[in-house]
Amino acid sequence: MNADFLHTIKPGIRAMKGYTLVQPVCPIKLNQNECPFDVPVDLKRDILAEAAGRDWGRYPDFVPTAVKAKIGAYNGVAPDGVLIGNGSNELIQATFIATVSKGDRVVLAVPTFTLYGLMSTAMDGELCPVRLRPDLSFDVDRLVAEAGHPGTKLVILCSPNNPTGSFITPDDVARIADATPGLVVVDEAYHEFAGLTNIGLLARYPNLVITRTFSKALGAAGLRIGYLIARPEIAREIEKVKLPYNVNQVSLIAAMRLLDERALIEERVGFIRAERQRVFERLSRTEGVRPFPSVANFILFEVDRDVRQVFHGLIERGVLIRDVSHYPMLDRAMRVTIGLEAENEAFLKALEKVMTQTRS
Ligand SMILES: Cc1ncc(COP(=O)(O)O)c(C=O)c1O
Repeated sequence: MNADFLHTIKPGIRAMKGYTLVQPVCPIKLNQNECPFDVPVDLKRDILAEAAGRDWGRYPDFVPTAVKAKIGAYNGVAPDGVLIGNGSNELIQATFIATVSKGDRVVLAVPTFTLYGLMSTAMDGELCPVRLRPDLSFDVDRLVAEAGHPGTKLVILCSPNNPTGSFITPDDVARIADATPGLVVVDEAYHEFAGLTNIGLLARYPNLVITRTFSKALGAAGLRIGYLIARPEIAREIEKVKLPYNVNQVSLIAAMRLLDERALIEERVGFIRAERQRVFERLSRTEGVRPFPSVANFILFEVDRDVRQVFHGLIERGVLIRDVSHYPMLDRAMRVTIGLEAENEAFLKALEKVMTQTRS
């Protein structure tokens, strides 16, 4: 008998690489598409004061009704179609658990966020990747064809797409939703930076599910708050596999307060969009660098030399970005998050130096 009991682990999971992150400590951290602005200190104090007034010995509300109502109002949808998660990742996982059984087809546009593939494998789904076009736009005709296959349970579209920064239009999402017998999940983690959303399609498409997060434009990645919006009858089913009391009391209070900060969030998003444009233009003028247009808070770019060398050269200069060269189609690519002006400047200067020094 195998004494280590590894045989008990599903073969698909043993074969998985897992979600990992190389995270050396660097003064300039532009590797996780986080918000460069912290929650204002007065707001943090108010949130903590409210949390201190609660009994931490008690569970949070079984259904966080007030937060659901506020998220619903914020997005112009009915609260009974809203689920709140410990980050949107948790709700993506719940959606997989609720829908995908062994051999079910999961259609997705690649390269994209790694989690979807991991979840599909964990559920023994059959991953059906559809490559983006060479310019990194979505290949909608092929997605429609794959999504339309009778065995398709789930179609996952990340828009704006991580790590490419490209997007799919609501009209094209509608074509896919029309064609498929499955659910269509649109991960809108970065939608604020694009000014694009598919929420308007929910009225027409009962198979649409949208996930969003407080981790990016709302600047609260450390608090782990995400949400899902769907038709109430779908949300109720996914809710059955979501863990009870999944979001802690402090984060629920923070969610309520952060949603009152629309003006601040819009101001910050405006800043990041302007910086995105500036960084894009500088990258376009840097020899050996080819940036791709992005509607998110990050930019993907290719270099005409060894990616590992450039990546480590940046780390040596105190700048951490993301090496995405192991993704399909992206063997020459890296992704940089848009940060504060000084951080972006430090990145651009370091990259210009590294590119000069590694010139072939
Ligand atoms: C496309 C996408 N979806 C979801 C997430 C995770 O969001 P959350 O922090 O809400 O779990 C990320 C994080 O990087 C992401 O890039």
